[in-house]
Amino acid sequence: MKIRVGLIGFGRMGQMYWEEMQKSGRWDIAYICDTDSVSRELAKKLSPSSRIISDEQEIFDDCSIEVVGLFALADSRNEQIKKAVRSNKHILTEKPIADTIEKEWEIVDLIEKYNKVAAVNLYLRNSWYHQTMKRFIDEGEIGELAILRICHMTPGLAPGEGHEYEGPAYHDCGMHYIDIARWYAGNEYKTWHAQGMRMWNYKDPWWVQSHGTFQNGVVFDITQGFVYGQLSRNQTHNSYTDIIGTKGIVRMTHDFRTAVVELHGVNRTLRIEKPFGGKNLDKLCNIMADSIENGKHDPRLPSMRDAAIASQYGWIFLEDACRNELPGIGNLQTLEEIRERRRHMKEGYGLLRPKKTMV
Ligand SMILES: NC(=O)c1ccc[n+]([C@@H]2O[C@H](COP(=O)([O-])OP(=O)(O)OC[C@H]3O[C@@H](n4cnc5c(N)ncnc54)[C@H](O)[C@@H]3O)[C@@H](O)[C@H]2O)c1
Repeated sequence: MKIRVGLIGFGRMGQMYWEEMQKSGRWDIAYICDTDSVSRELAKKLSPSSRIISDEQEIFDDCSIEVVGLFALADSRNEQIKKAVRSNKHILTEKPIADTIEKEWEIVDLIEKYNKVAAVNLYLRNSWYHQTMKRFIDEGEIGELAILRICHMTPGLAPGEGHEYEGPAYHDCGMHYIDIARWYAGNEYKTWHAQGMRMWNYKDPWWVQSHGTFQNGVVFDITQGFVYGQLSRNQTHNSYTDIIGTKGIVRMTHDFRTAVVELHGVNRTLRIEKPFGGKNLDKLCNIMADSIENGKHDPRLPSMRDAAIASQYGWIFLEDACRNELPGIGNLQTLEEIRERRRHMKEGYGLLRPKKTMV
């Protein structure tokens, strides 16, 4: 029996979930809801067997719907999660789980007393490269874990293009890296200092580096910025994880197609190169489906608490960057040129799915 699901939000992420759920054959996508008429038109074309709606309430009122997929923006999530709980549905949601820290913790309190499956897409946790490195570390190959260095810089989502409720880049995207550092450390953040740059003189920093400690003494530095050569003729990016133990190291990098993991342990030296795997939505949806079918919440599913903590530290580090010297370099004219270039790009980093294009 397929699992009956209603999807809310049919933008870039909603469409990716739709594709993966279709491919797996485990889901009956009964509803697609979007407040934007162009997204609904696209949904009608792509998914003729789904009911395409603009009022999410229909999904919550339909008792045959077991799961809701929440893929709209952060401002609507708190209310949608509360409605899902009231109507007794399993929940698969995008991050962040709300648009303020207070509302996120409200959701954590609610969900921790709820007996249905509820999971958040913190996609790095499902990636083969982080799982491979974590396993190697857990085997003792690098000695004691000491230093986590994570960097993700691309010519991606520019200020003003969308995702305003998700906050500046360091919160919107950076919360994934804040989460994965905490996952490796197996511990909570203790101290920090953040430095930001208001690139193009934009009001918010679009590049931030924070560093500090976890309670167990592991130190971190996390750099994230969508400021990496937006107007360069041929764009590139720089994304890596570099983990140092008392005896060995592990590291990875990727070009969004292939990821390369290098493991330098006391016994083994390995270089593994495999397809990057994108957002790993196939894995997330499958673990979710297994959990629903077995009636048992798989611990690999990232929790609302994990998402709230990552989001909270995303905001805290950003605030710290704003308190410290926060220079602005460049001008808004350059930012306008970037937006204009991205509006016309067909292939590019983090382009939101164009609303006006039909397939
Ligand atoms: N986990 C990840 O790696 C990852 C990556 C990208 C985006 N995201 C998250 O996914 C979410 C969606 O991002 P996106 O890139 O798809 O954005 P998007 O702007 O492409 O899509 C959002 C869609 O939701 C619709 N929408 C907005 N409010 C709605 C509402 N109340 N009810 C129904 N539909 C509504 C919009 O019309 C739009 O079609 C964001 O919250 C973002 O933070 C997560």
